[in-house]
Amino acid sequence: MTPTTMFLRKFFPRSQSSARMLTAALIALACTAAFLLDAPTAQSDEKSDAKAKQALAQAVAKGQALYRKAWKKGAKGCFACHTRGPNKLTYARLKTYPKYDKSLRKVVTVQEKINAMIKGKSGGKPLALGHADLTALEAYISTLK
Ligand code: HEC
Repeated sequence: MTPTTMFLRKFFPRSQSSARMLTAALIALACTAAFLLDAPTAQSDEKSDAKAKQALAQAVAKGQALYRKAWKKGAKGCFACHTRGPNKLTYARLKTYPKYDKSLRKVVTVQEKINAMIKGKSGGKPLALGHADLTALEAYISTLK
């Protein structure tokens, strides 16, 4: 008896050995097939990367447009107050959130702060947190240097 057969016999006793070995082989085959079918290929990775990049670029573009818009006739857009000077908005500013906000008198996320700006300075109605427009504004501000 070879060491391999001895090893196999240990786990698959003589009586039902062939049936059990066949079952084990089929299970192994099924697992391999499932793994291979499930494993993402390099190609699909590239595709989803391209999709992710495109989705982010779209959000940034939307945010850029919203940044310039006045939320009410006669009101100012973010752009009017935040492009230069001490209130210039950049990614570095965005990164300081969550933080305590003196005027809101609590710790806020950047979306809560943006919402307060939409309402308080730009004449708009606050949006639900996680709203695509708020996320787009956040995405755009994160590209500002
Ligand atoms: C009329 C001028 C004005 C407009 C319009 C305006 N803001 Fe502001 N914003 C300010 C001023 C002044 C501050 C600083 C005082 C404060 O935090 O309230 C500020 C603060 C901020 C901050 C906090 C910056 C920091 O360093 O923590 C963010 C973020 C911000 N604004 C985003 C926006 C966005 C987004 C818009 C457009 C929806 C907007 N603001 C519209 C005047 C404006």
